[in-house]
Amino acid sequence: MSADGIKVAVTRRLPATVEQRMSALFETTLHESEKPLSREALIERARGADVLAATLGDRLDAAFFDAVGDRLKLVANFGAGVDHIDIAAADAHGVTVTNTPSVLAEDAADMAMALILAVPRRLVEGVNALIEGRFEGWSPTWMLGRRVRGKKLGIIGLGRVGEAIARRARAFGLSIHYHNRQPINPHIEEALEATYWESLDQMLAHVDIVSVNCPHTPATFHLLSRRRLELMPPHAYLVNVSRGEIVDETALADLIESGRLAGAGLDVYERGGPNEKLLSLPNVVLLPHMASATVESRIEMGERVIINIKMFADGHRPPDRVISGLDVDF
Ligand code: DGY
Repeated sequence: MSADGIKVAVTRRLPATVEQRMSALFETTLHESEKPLSREALIERARGADVLAATLGDRLDAAFFDAVGDRLKLVANFGAGVDHIDIAAADAHGVTVTNTPSVLAEDAADMAMALILAVPRRLVEGVNALIEGRFEGWSPTWMLGRRVRGKKLGIIGLGRVGEAIARRARAFGLSIHYHNRQPINPHIEEALEATYWESLDQMLAHVDIVSVNCPHTPATFHLLSRRRLELMPPHAYLVNVSRGEIVDETALADLIESGRLAGAGLDVYERGGPNEKLLSLPNVVLLPHMASATVESRIEMGERVIINIKMFADGHRPPDRVISGLDVDF
């Protein structure tokens, strides 16, 4: 395959500069609408292409790869998470999959840090009180949150985003704890003064704020089950900018409602949007999956997609190839 004449099909509208560059380099079918493609239209678009520039929301499961035929050779995902793609099925059909790690890590970490501050300090409750005319002047006892400095932050999945959060959190006086399958590079661990917990259960019982930063895989689905959420102390908060499926959202909402957990800051949800109970709780801050939503991140994600396509088309190993069976790092 060579970049000349290679057919690329895009499934969502991308930043204009990315679309222009893609169209200049490859024979590209862009997506004109802000709405995602239907399942049928997605299969139809992929069927006529060498490369599918897909993104989260496109369900690329085994049935999809069975249906698209032999032409498709590369899925160049716009995004770091690939839990919407059956990598083993892609492999079995000879389709390479790439993602866009690292370029969004700093922006995602900013948003996680914003939530780590916003929930204990009741930022959104304060804004709402003002807007709703409930502010009657400063009071020694009104709108008291909890101090962030001196608290213990437990990061589940200390990869690129987790590390970027840890750097920020240290500047705010938090101590860093983490749970990974393996300890991280000792130099990084030392620089962050981070404590490794082999046992997630033990870490959950010990920390004040938990940040979810591992990828969603079959092994991490409901990693934070009701049982594990109940191990967290009642004054603890949960922050998640990774994937909603990692947390049992119904259990989380129940525990916050009953005062068994202090609150949560969420950017991602199990079923597309937050459940009804979460929406009604005052001590949660809910965002619409926008942790990587900066102009800079989205352009750099598009650039990674283009680099992966170009390298692949030129016969090289694309730099961000996702390997079946290995976790992606955000
Ligand atoms: C990703 O890249 O997977 C993010 O969730 C999108 O911002």
